[in-house]
Amino acid sequence: MSVAPFQNQPPIEWGKTENKERLYKSLKYVKAESGREYPLLIGGEEILTENKISSHNPASHNEVIGYVSQAGRDHIETAISAARSAYNTWSSTTFQERASYLFKTAEIMKRRKTEMIAWQIYEAGKNWAEADGEMDEAIDFLEMYGREAMSLDQGQNLVSVPGIENCLEYRPLGVGSIISPWNFPIAIVTGMTVSALVTGNTVLLKPASLTPVIAAKFVEIMQEADVPDGVINFVPGASGDIGDYMVEHQDINFVSFTGSKEAGLHIDEIAHKRIPGQRWIKRVVAEMGGKNGIVVDESADLDAAAAEIITSAFGYQGQKCSAGSRAIIHESVYDEMVKKIIERADTLQVGPGSENNEIGPVIDEKAFKKINHYIEIGKGEGTLVFGGTSDDTHGYYITPAVFKDVPAASRIMKEEIFGPVLAICKVADVEEGIQVYNDTEFGLTGSLFTKSRDHMIYARREMDCGNLFLNGKCTGALVGVQPFGGYYMSGTGSKTGCLDYLLNFVQAKTIAENL
Ligand code: NAD
Ligand code: ALA
Repeated sequence: MSVAPFQNQPPIEWGKTENKERLYKSLKYVKAESGREYPLLIGGEEILTENKISSHNPASHNEVIGYVSQAGRDHIETAISAARSAYNTWSSTTFQERASYLFKTAEIMKRRKTEMIAWQIYEAGKNWAEADGEMDEAIDFLEMYGREAMSLDQGQNLVSVPGIENCLEYRPLGVGSIISPWNFPIAIVTGMTVSALVTGNTVLLKPASLTPVIAAKFVEIMQEADVPDGVINFVPGASGDIGDYMVEHQDINFVSFTGSKEAGLHIDEIAHKRIPGQRWIKRVVAEMGGKNGIVVDESADLDAAAAEIITSAFGYQGQKCSAGSRAIIHESVYDEMVKKIIERADTLQVGPGSENNEIGPVIDEKAFKKINHYIEIGKGEGTLVFGGTSDDTHGYYITPAVFKDVPAASRIMKEEIFGPVLAICKVADVEEGIQVYNDTEFGLTGSLFTKSRDHMIYARREMDCGNLFLNGKCTGALVGVQPFGGYYMSGTGSKTGCLDYLLNFVQAKTIAENL
């Protein structure tokens, strides 16, 4: 099979009337489709259960997006058996064959793109650009992992020795549990699932309970692409009921998790407790949180820095693992930068994502309360100079909060808030700035704004993060362009969006044939 070289999906031009009209039509369609029931999918069988997750629009309390069946432990048992039996045939297909399913899925997603954007707007509270960017990321994962998997078909080049033919092949691991977060409900679900499938594994997919309808749509698309029964088993449910069970189970070979530090550490711990009779050590891939920051030195282009601080801090209401929730600014440009940041924050419109406001609702009541709690903490730690008001009359809205003069050691400089809260801290020089940047338990994304080549070189070496951006925002890493993943408590160190990621889900076998 020959495929064109990989290219990232282009963003939709919303200025064009036909694109806007297509989205309005999809929004109408999705609204009419809301409130439907969605089944589990186990071994190709759709199962409606009594116990359902009801998913709501975070912009409108009374609007139900859908009712998604919840799996119990018995379903997990059945799903593991179904995945195990599908594994026998799926694991013996070639990388090329499996890649072809990813390419087919990508084509379906391209065709259903505005519909999927509309589901994200209503279920996750995204605006048009955020939802479009996420769809592009999902399609990019399919296109990238499909291509990279085809290169794994060749194994690895080895040193040749006369009289012996040696080769190294990549074999799958077995049956895995995929456990995904709500904040990238289509891109991350897609990337995590298809990376495991294309490498020959079969999976149980447990999506986050806040965005289960989008996950059900993803599974529907995989069915439309004719992925064989049992290869993907859809088992939404409460983590208290089935979460630990599908991690600890002795017939699970690996766990691929993206979510909070707390849940990731817990999963990592319980996955590594070997159950009597278990013949393998489970592999755990855990992508976790961040407390990312942007350092601005005295030479920086201040307008560019202010614009990208705003985008990084408040894009999707600050609910990205990559969100830049700290601005660490040189004292000589501090006052001017604070003024520029406030001016830009003041232009952001707060309201429903369906009307394409820059700031939509936060995901749910729990997040609303948690973020407001941190805003109160911030008032005792720094000076609130903009926003921070909230209104949950119809949806969970919080105006972007900007705090200045926040000491480096304060909680809002160190803890992941996961909401539209920016802490600004003053430093004397770039060395101190990077020291403050490094002083959290995370290490996901970071930026430095500077015109100094020496400062860039220093930051490359000293800023402790998996994704460093020089003179750019710290969110929006592109598949294949900026492979993504962090250090320390931000994760187990894998990089999504490149070949390396696929190696998490294979084991190498060396075969030497004496001729
Ligand atoms: P979360 O940890 O609450 O939940 C993530 C998933 O884990 C959900 O499906 C949840 O049901 C499940 N889960 C929770 N406890 C479990 C348990 N004991 N056993 C099995 N499953 C369990 O996270 P969230 O609120 O959905 O997502 C937000 C978090 O995810 C933030 O911390 C964010 O930074 C992080 N995140 C990280 C990345 C990354 O690439 N590093 C990407 C997106 C989000
Ligand atoms: N790719 C996403 C970002 O960088 C996670 O924001």
